[in-house]
Amino acid sequence: MNDTMRSILERSSTRSYTHEAVSSEMIEDLKKAALAAPTATNKQENRFVFVTDKDLLAKINTKVYEAMAAESDSNGLARLKQRKAEDIFYGAPLVIFIYSQDSRYAIMDAGIAVQNLALAAHSLGLGSCINGMCRRAFRSNDEGNLRSELGFAEGEYFRVAIGIGHIARGKKPHRFNYAHIREI
Ligand SMILES: Cc1cc2nc3c(=O)[nH]c(=O)nc-3n(C[C@H](O)[C@H](O)[C@H](O)COP(=O)(O)O)c2cc1C
Repeated sequence: MNDTMRSILERSSTRSYTHEAVSSEMIEDLKKAALAAPTATNKQENRFVFVTDKDLLAKINTKVYEAMAAESDSNGLARLKQRKAEDIFYGAPLVIFIYSQDSRYAIMDAGIAVQNLALAAHSLGLGSCINGMCRRAFRSNDEGNLRSELGFAEGEYFRVAIGIGHIARGKKPHRFNYAHIREI
């Protein structure tokens, strides 16, 4: 099996990290992986914020918990409790936030970039976990949202994030189902 196939098949979400920081060399590789992602008509409208500031990550975490409590989002809160997660980023020392203007393929472009990052992280020996839950911190119509903390301008929207770090406890890749594929 080649290295790319191995990364695709071996990657799985990491929800427990060591305190070790992600090195600046690795961060440079991750930046390349983010910018190398294909985008529809090569518009390259994905924007990335690499956050290692623990206080800011804690602030986002608190905001998301508050939003879930305010919405009585019992499913979300139960999922976090089941995962024993006081931190929605599971202690990842680096979280990359992807945002962009609205366009037909904005969500897809961000999804492709986040998978590039997940696979790049895996190939560097790092763990990662994609994060959609933190969207609650960046809703334009919520008073006290944290959009400006990440530098979002008006008309720019959070798409998805990914926590990355050294793995403290990993898990096996999910099982997949060939019945989801038909050949014609
Ligand atoms: C768009 C998207 C959003 C996700 N958001 C979260 C999240 O907020 N929190 C979390 O713990 N995992 C999140 N995940 C990770 C999924 O739960 C995980 O990929 C799935 O359970 C399959 O496990 P695997 O990644 O180990 O294969 C997200 C994944 C995707 C693709």
